[in-house]
Amino acid sequence: MTFRGWMVEKTTDNEGAKQQVARLTDLEADVLTAGDTEIETTASSVNYKDALALTGSPGIIKAWPLIAGIDVVGTVRSSDSGRWVPGDHVLLNGAGLGESVNGGLAERALVDGSQLVRVPQKFTPTQAAAIGTAGFTAMLAVLAIERHGVKPEDGPVLVTGSAGGVGSITIATLAHLGYEVVASTGRAETEGDYLSKLGATDVVDRAEFSESGKPLQSQRWAAVADAVGSTTLANVLAQTRYGGIVTACGMAQGADLPASVVPFILRGVTLAGINSVEAPHALREEAWSRLAQTLDPALLDDMTEIYALADAQSIAEQVLAGTVRGRSVIDVTA
Ligand SMILES: NC(=O)c1ccc[n+]([C@@H]2O[C@H](COP(=O)([O-])OP(=O)(O)OC[C@H]3O[C@@H](n4cnc5c(N)ncnc54)[C@H](OP(=O)(O)O)[C@@H]3O)[C@@H](O)[C@H]2O)c1
Repeated sequence: MTFRGWMVEKTTDNEGAKQQVARLTDLEADVLTAGDTEIETTASSVNYKDALALTGSPGIIKAWPLIAGIDVVGTVRSSDSGRWVPGDHVLLNGAGLGESVNGGLAERALVDGSQLVRVPQKFTPTQAAAIGTAGFTAMLAVLAIERHGVKPEDGPVLVTGSAGGVGSITIATLAHLGYEVVASTGRAETEGDYLSKLGATDVVDRAEFSESGKPLQSQRWAAVADAVGSTTLANVLAQTRYGGIVTACGMAQGADLPASVVPFILRGVTLAGINSVEAPHALREEAWSRLAQTLDPALLDDMTEIYALADAQSIAEQVLAGTVRGRSVIDVTA
């Protein structure tokens, strides 16, 4: 029996140049080789990494050919893992999906059952995909801020890349926990109301942070959740209050970090890296349990658009163009 999926392959064009091409195609069951748990996929999503993989950008896919999709949500068909039985609703974010093992943008997946997390009862499979890697990463940043000891009364928390997937869920979660959240965006005019509805008390223009600044600036933030990198990350480090924390998960502006050590040695600022892909299982369980406690499903629906499997590549182009708001779920059954 065949199933549909977005397969990414390396090909050579007529002039001999190497290309990375993604196409929605019918796949044979034997392409799925690694894993002890077979999943009938319900939903996936288009994250920034998926957008790169689906549009021919190198650097994401490390094994060829590969089914794209760093998120999978679905129902267990069979499992030799000892943990799951047919009919269980499960999810997996990262863990090599869509990078080194076949991913979630297909009607079937075969994964390592020890890495799976049960879909929290509070969420439908579509809502679990709406959270996806973006929401899981957002919660890892929130956990880092909490573990650093930052309390709502300590002062405002800045969220960058705020109208994107990670940013939107970070705002909603922090606001639910009682933090005063300031959203930085390049789309204040069109997305200001959206960000306020998620819980931001103030919306600032990302241009404030995008140019090189002084190594030490006025102390504004008790904590920062950054998804942007580059000069933005350098500036927010320079604006973080004594003893505060900045979490860094992304590089939407750039992978560089043109900063100085001054905020670390004069203000005791902590820079915490966030990696969702290789998160250990206990942390995955903790993050998903906290997401179930803190994220309002209705608010999640407000930040989500749902598309058919065939639409994944065109959505990927919009994600890279920066025109997508919140989360893009792919209904793999449509
Ligand atoms: N470390 C991890 O485990 C992990 C996990 C998930 C994602 N990520 C990374 O985190 C980043 C955000 O992911 P996402 O899923 O939220 O992506 P997304 O939905 O595409 O959102 C990215 C947001 O970044 C902002 N942005 C884009 N270009 C920018 C620029 N040149 N300067 C400043 N801001 C810019 C935009 O927000 P505004 O329109 O509001 O300005 C955009 O909506 C990506 O780099 C992604 O690869 C990392």
